[in-house]
Amino acid sequence: MSSTTAMHAPKGLEGVVATTSAICYIDGEQGVLAYRGIDIHELADNSSFEETCYLLWNGKLPTRVELRELHERLAEERKLDASIVTLLRMAPRHALPMDVLRTAVSALSFYDVEEKSNDREANVHKAIRLTSQVSMIVAAYDRIRKGKSVVEPDHSLSHAANFLLMLNGTAPSATAERALDIALILHADHELNASTFAARVTAATLSDMHSAVTSAIGTLKGPLHGGANEAVFQILQAIDSSGADPVEYVTGMLAQKKKIPGFGHRVYHTEDPRATHLRTMSHDLGQASGQAKWFEISQKIEEFVKADKKLNANVDFYSASTYRTLGIDVDLFTPVFAVSRVSGWTAHVIEQLDDNRLIRPRADYIGPAYPQHWVSIDKRNRRD
Ligand SMILES: CC(C)(COP(=O)(O)OP(=O)(O)OC[C@H]1O[C@@H](n2cnc3c(N)ncnc32)[C@H](O)[C@@H]1OP(=O)(O)O)[C@@H](O)C(=O)NCCC(=O)NCCS
Repeated sequence: MSSTTAMHAPKGLEGVVATTSAICYIDGEQGVLAYRGIDIHELADNSSFEETCYLLWNGKLPTRVELRELHERLAEERKLDASIVTLLRMAPRHALPMDVLRTAVSALSFYDVEEKSNDREANVHKAIRLTSQVSMIVAAYDRIRKGKSVVEPDHSLSHAANFLLMLNGTAPSATAERALDIALILHADHELNASTFAARVTAATLSDMHSAVTSAIGTLKGPLHGGANEAVFQILQAIDSSGADPVEYVTGMLAQKKKIPGFGHRVYHTEDPRATHLRTMSHDLGQASGQAKWFEISQKIEEFVKADKKLNANVDFYSASTYRTLGIDVDLFTPVFAVSRVSGWTAHVIEQLDDNRLIRPRADYIGPAYPQHWVSIDKRNRRD
């Protein structure tokens, strides 16, 4: 009996519902995104990244005590084995932070005290540990490649403030801390996006949490996914340095049939609700820091692409100018996405393993008709 069904999934699995999940609710027509049923706008206005992590991992908002305990656990786990720091030092200086992050996260498993355990409790611990460690790796590698010393975290600071401290060597302003905190909340989860799907596929083989997160990081890197925020800024930079007109620049890209990074979305057919906050943040931070130009160029591109191509800005469009205005280097933008999304990946791995089944779809075979036959090498057609 054939194990294929009559249904053929559309290219890119568009519109296919591949699992049940209680983590993230999206209404692509109305532009709604909610974690555990709570609208992203409410979380961005009122929550913190730590509280959002608790929500994703546990399915409910924490009490005051539970939140304090999570702060303490994240602080305790804000440490890297000396071998990981050595690994970061050994990476060639030209190595991209996203590639270094992927390799370092894979190596973290060697030193994880619960490496051999794949049970729920161990995976919740690993979720906390990885969330602390991913931000440390991104910050530490950036300093190492610039010949600077690695900065120790400050246990009294929030996750967002610690990241900026470990990156820049000084504690951030309250405005910068809150801006990054909101950005981390907005990027924390997004249902079955490509990297989360990759994490779930890996976890479903009963591999381990570190392997699942490593798969996810490799998937996030691509310019059709998390890599888009870096590609957006490269365009802003090219426009700024050449003095080009933003609309003419983008028109030229479209004439070459190039996609404009930061626009379009597989699920949202209206404004991506995360873009709403990031647009405001990009504007406000730009004004406050005297770097309004990145927002201004972005806005001209957005107006044109929306009018001409009917495409809305997605999460990556205004995160580019927001991160740059926060003083974050361009090739750290996608790693910063990972600093946040590790919370969602790990929540999905835990959920996958709570009710697991191997994820193994079928392919519609379109190769040479079966049966073909092996031919001796002497009898194969020569090219000359
Ligand atoms: C996100 C994305 C991969 C979704 O892709 P998708 O659902 O497969 O949609 P498609 O690529 O099939 O696009 C559908 C149509 O819109 C166009 N389109 C989509 N995004 C576009 C973009 N950013 N710039 C220009 N045209 C775009 C496509 O060319 C296509 O037009 P066509 O039907 O005339 O060929 C796609 O919009 C994209 O590549 N965006 C840029 C990268 C990006 O910002 N990624 C981050 C997403 S959060």
